[in-house]
Amino acid sequence: MSSDRQNWFEGWRLFALLTFILACLCIWIAGMRGFEVDGVRMVIRFTARTSLLFFCLAFSAAALAKLWPNAWTRWLRRNRRYLGVTFAASHGIHAVAIACFAVMDPAGYAAATSAASYIFGGIGYAFIIAMAATSFDRSAAALGPRAWRILHLTGGYYLTFQFMVSFGKRIPDMPLYALFLLPLLIVMALRLIAMASTRSRRTLRAG
Ligand code: HEM
Repeated sequence: MSSDRQNWFEGWRLFALLTFILACLCIWIAGMRGFEVDGVRMVIRFTARTSLLFFCLAFSAAALAKLWPNAWTRWLRRNRRYLGVTFAASHGIHAVAIACFAVMDPAGYAAATSAASYIFGGIGYAFIIAMAATSFDRSAAALGPRAWRILHLTGGYYLTFQFMVSFGKRIPDMPLYALFLLPLLIVMALRLIAMASTRSRRTLRAG
C-alpha cells in the first residue's frame, strides 16, 4: 500500500466510509425481508457482530502495535479512535433497530428482553455514549488525560463483559456462538501480554 493511500484511508474519512458501508448493508439486510420484523432482527444481530469486530480492533490496537510493530499495527494504533467511534455508530444502528423491533412486534420484543438486558445493556450504552463523546480532541482535553484513561479502560472492560454475556447466553441453544467469545479472549490475552512485557522492560531498566 502506498503511503498516500494509507493516509487516505485514515481518520474521520475512515470512520465516515465504514459507517456509510455499514448503514447501506443494514438497509439492504432489512430490505431483503421487506422491512418486516424478521429483517429488523437480522439487523440487530448483524450490528452486534460488526460492533464486536470494531470493538476488538480498537481495544487491541495498542497491544498489537507494541508486540508486533509493523506498518499494519501502526496504522491500527493511529486509527483506533476512529475504529472506536465506528463501533459506537454500529451500536447506534443496533439501538435504532431495537427501537423498531419494540414498535413493530411488542410481544416478540418483550420475550427477547428482560430487566437484566435493560440494566446491563443500559450501562453499556452509557459507556458507549461517554466514550464516543470524549473521542474528540477538545472533549478529551476538557476531561483530562487521567479521567479519560479511567473512563476508556473501565468502559472497554465493561463492554468486553457485556459482549461475553450477550453472546455467551446464546451458547446453550446455539453452541457455535462460542466462536464469538474467541476474539474477546484473544484481545484480553494480547492486552495482558503487552502489559507484562512493558512491566518486565521497566524492571530490567530499573535493575
Ligand atoms: C438497553 C440496551 C440493549 C437492548 C434493549 C438490547 C436488545 C437486544 C435484543 C432484543 C437482541 C436480540 C435480537 C433478536 O434475537 O432478534 C440483542 C442482541 C444482541 N445484543 Fe443487544 N441490546 C442492548 C444493548 C447491547 C449492548 C450494550 C451490547 C454489547 C456491547 C449488546 C450486544 C448484543 C449481542 C452480542 C447480541 C446477540 C447478537 C446475535 O444473536 O448474534 N446489546 N440485543
